Amino acid sequence: MRTVLVGPPGAGKGTQAAFVAKHFSIPQISTGDIFRANVAEQTKLGLEARKYMDAGDLVPDEVTIAMVRDRLAEDDARDGFLLDGFPRTVQQAEVLDDILSDLHAGLDAVLELSVKEDEVVRRLSGRRTCHGCGRNWHVEFDKPVEQGVCDACGGELFRRDDDAPETVRRRLEVYAEQTAPLVEHYADEGRLHRIEATGAVEDVTRRAIEALESVVD
Ligand code: AP5
Repeated sequence: MRTVLVGPPGAGKGTQAAFVAKHFSIPQISTGDIFRANVAEQTKLGLEARKYMDAGDLVPDEVTIAMVRDRLAEDDARDGFLLDGFPRTVQQAEVLDDILSDLHAGLDAVLELSVKEDEVVRRLSGRRTCHGCGRNWHVEFDKPVEQGVCDACGGELFRRDDDAPETVRRRLEVYAEQTAPLVEHYADEGRLHRIEATGAVEDVTRRAIEALESVVD
């Protein structure tokens, strides 16, 4: 299963990617997570990416594409992967097809998580992320037992810098300008599977898995 998850900021891509990747026993490859790990470690790539992430803009392709190409060449991605957050533009999608063609592989499906804008704003304004394992929580919709502490690993929860209201607004603009055309591109090619991503997290997971299983059957 080689698949891509698309959807606006806060649609639940990271949340669902973890469950879906586990179900299909494939690695979850999140460009946002890779960038954030590099920011935390203050690598050269992280320092470069941070300028764009903090502004809510896309990190330039020359940085992003090389990073994804290297990651997809790793052994654990040979038989499948779930990409979360890449591609985000039509140009990145074309590069992905080239990378996969070099690896003698193809994309099985693109899954779009469909959520209305007012809902994603509510989700992002209450999101808390674990420093330890990266799991996402929500102060209202998905609370840990102890406030500020991850149930899964005991790690401390934090609010992402790019969840500040003005940065969220910019990220939504960037999505409309640069990623919405990508969704149309995949729809025109007949590769897009859209699911409703509101409701309980486990219901969305079930819809996502059913949609992907219908592709591989
Ligand atoms: P990235 O990390 O990919 O951010 P994003 O696409 O904006 O998506 P988010 O991570 O904000 O949201 P999500 O859809 O994963 O939702 P989540 O599951 O957390 O990218 C960050 C930045 O990196 C970009 O802005 C850009 O600068 C850079 N970047 C990354 N990829 C790039 C690329 N390819 N090219 C260039 N630059 C790139 O859920 C959100 C909240 O909702 C959580 O609190 C969660 O608990 C809650 N929630 C989830 N599901 C539900 C539900 N069903 N009901 C209620 N609440 C829910």
